[in-house]
Amino acid sequence: MSQNSLLITFEGGEGSGKTTQSQILYNALKEKGFEVIKTREPGGTKFAEIIREILVQGESNKINNISELLLFAAARADHVQKLIKECLKDNKIVICDRFTDSTLAYQGYAGNLDLDLVKEVNRISIGEISPDLTFVFDIDPTLGIERALGENNKETRFEEKDIMYHKKIRDGYMDIARDNPDRCVVIDGTNGIEQISKNILELTLDKINE
Ligand code: TMP
Repeated sequence: MSQNSLLITFEGGEGSGKTTQSQILYNALKEKGFEVIKTREPGGTKFAEIIREILVQGESNKINNISELLLFAAARADHVQKLIKECLKDNKIVICDRFTDSTLAYQGYAGNLDLDLVKEVNRISIGEISPDLTFVFDIDPTLGIERALGENNKETRFEEKDIMYHKKIRDGYMDIARDNPDRCVVIDGTNGIEQISKNILELTLDKINE
């Protein structure tokens, strides 16, 4: 099947359902015969997965905000160079669970780093590529954190930050969606899995056929 490259990103606070939905979209596109890959951030390459371990595990205040920003950027630059760019060059559809908007929401809005500084670091880490379509999952942070902490994994460094941090992430994402209406679609994370996945598939197919 001939197809154009597409970078689709899934964004949102903790426990919003984006990881489940990115997997459902990946399966649906594959089944329809598209060449598609699914990846995540922080991570996606050997080097970036090592940085991921440092960033998402351990005590929530163990890294200062600026070091955290630069570690996410270092992981992302490797991921973009080695994987995402190559796949886009081959006209593949890339589904990425979190990307630059996570850095703006978490390190910028919630971590109180200057938003223009975060945008500039994001720009440096991705070069000329940018998402074509972004699903921003919205959920009340109290409910999201409850869902996420029930998942029983070691990657709880961000989940364990206080509720104000998570409220700022939610507000940040709403600002980001408002500022980027050309690519962002807000998804109500409290809707049923099937309803959300149907909506996301339709919007993705519309984008593919544009
Ligand atoms: P995950 O929960 O989606 O697997 O993501 C890992 C954690 O990393 C999550 O708590 C959000 C956080 N994160 C940031 O703070 N900034 C970023 O730029 C990215 C990609 C993730």
